[in-house]
Amino acid sequence: MTAPDLFSPVRIGAIDCANRVFMSPLTRCHALPDGDVPHALNATYYAQRASAGLIISEATQVSPQGKGYVDTPGMYSAAQQAGWQLVTDAVHAAGGRIVAQLWHVGSISHPDFQPDGALPVSCSAVNPGGIVRTPAGKKDRVAPRALETHEIPVLIEQWRQAALIAQRAGFDGVELHGGNGYLLEQFMRDATNHRTDEWGGSIANRLRLTLSIIDACIGVFGKDRVGIRLSPVTNANNCGQDSNPQATYGTLVDALSERGIAFIDFVEGQTGSTRNLEGFDFALARRRFRGAYVANNRYTREMALDAVAQGAADAVAFGVPFIGNPDLPERLRRNAPLATANPQTYYGQSAVGYTDYPSLDAA
Ligand SMILES: Cc1cc2nc3c(=O)[nH]c(=O)nc-3n(C[C@H](O)[C@H](O)[C@H](O)COP(=O)(O)O)c2cc1C
Repeated sequence: MTAPDLFSPVRIGAIDCANRVFMSPLTRCHALPDGDVPHALNATYYAQRASAGLIISEATQVSPQGKGYVDTPGMYSAAQQAGWQLVTDAVHAAGGRIVAQLWHVGSISHPDFQPDGALPVSCSAVNPGGIVRTPAGKKDRVAPRALETHEIPVLIEQWRQAALIAQRAGFDGVELHGGNGYLLEQFMRDATNHRTDEWGGSIANRLRLTLSIIDACIGVFGKDRVGIRLSPVTNANNCGQDSNPQATYGTLVDALSERGIAFIDFVEGQTGSTRNLEGFDFALARRRFRGAYVANNRYTREMALDAVAQGAADAVAFGVPFIGNPDLPERLRRNAPLATANPQTYYGQSAVGYTDYPSLDAA
């Protein structure tokens, strides 16, 4: 048997992927402002990228409370379901596969995004600091309200409902956003989780929310269509580090392996920046986790070829390279030059910088 290469097919849980060049989740703030609804332009954008072995959608809030950026799409209303159906139909018609990244930003939000201007919620009232861009302009972040114990089952139910809507909208599965300093990671880390009930304190308690939501999503999709993104050492969104990432995230990886979920999408290092951070052994996680290991963070063609050939990863998720190169797998296969996307047009409503990057042959 020949060793797998980056361009060979792979089965991730129950999802058959044509190659191992995956599209990393990319927030683009292009949903319709009225109701945070995906629409035809989003379907075009994703269909253009359907040659990815698997598309992981942009982060998608599970409730209005989970929102923290302008014009990000949701997964909790009938209109959003119909909008996502346009996207999944277009991707499937183009031969692709797509999972939905489900998301709650927790403390990263701002009252400007919250129903009735309420405080954002998190595990504890820890202000992440920094600036948030709201529809009313740039504002300082605020200390969130700590969720009451009795509210947490409601939160888990919101994620379950979001998974149901994703399923009805035709997604091939879901990826929980368990990274980048958002709600699930706020609960995981002792820097941000100061609770004294069963949702804080010990490692088992800090992981309870994530694992409860994983179980809820398994109840909807089955274990072989559920994955999660983890970023054990990032400080994205100012999230304080856990005092022992190896113990906390190692315990989580083992629990996820026992549950038999399809994949973990690992952000190796600081999201979008240095890969060289201490504190977590990704190679060990690769060996301990029985499902697929999806590697992410600043991979070049050479690194990705090597990671798959050496067995360090089952697939590699590319983020920024997919913005300017809709046909990234083909460009990598041919070792063709890559277009550089313009960061000024990453976010916003325009089709410019969104659906107008040509494929290699068109260029
Ligand atoms: C514009 C932009 C939007 C992003 N949105 C998300 C997101 O919605 N969810 C997520 O988990 N990561 C998000 N990320 C992080 C990327 O998925 C990825 O982890 C990061 O860009 C590093 O991979 P790369 O070097 O291949 O780009 C975003 C990154 C960028 C540049």
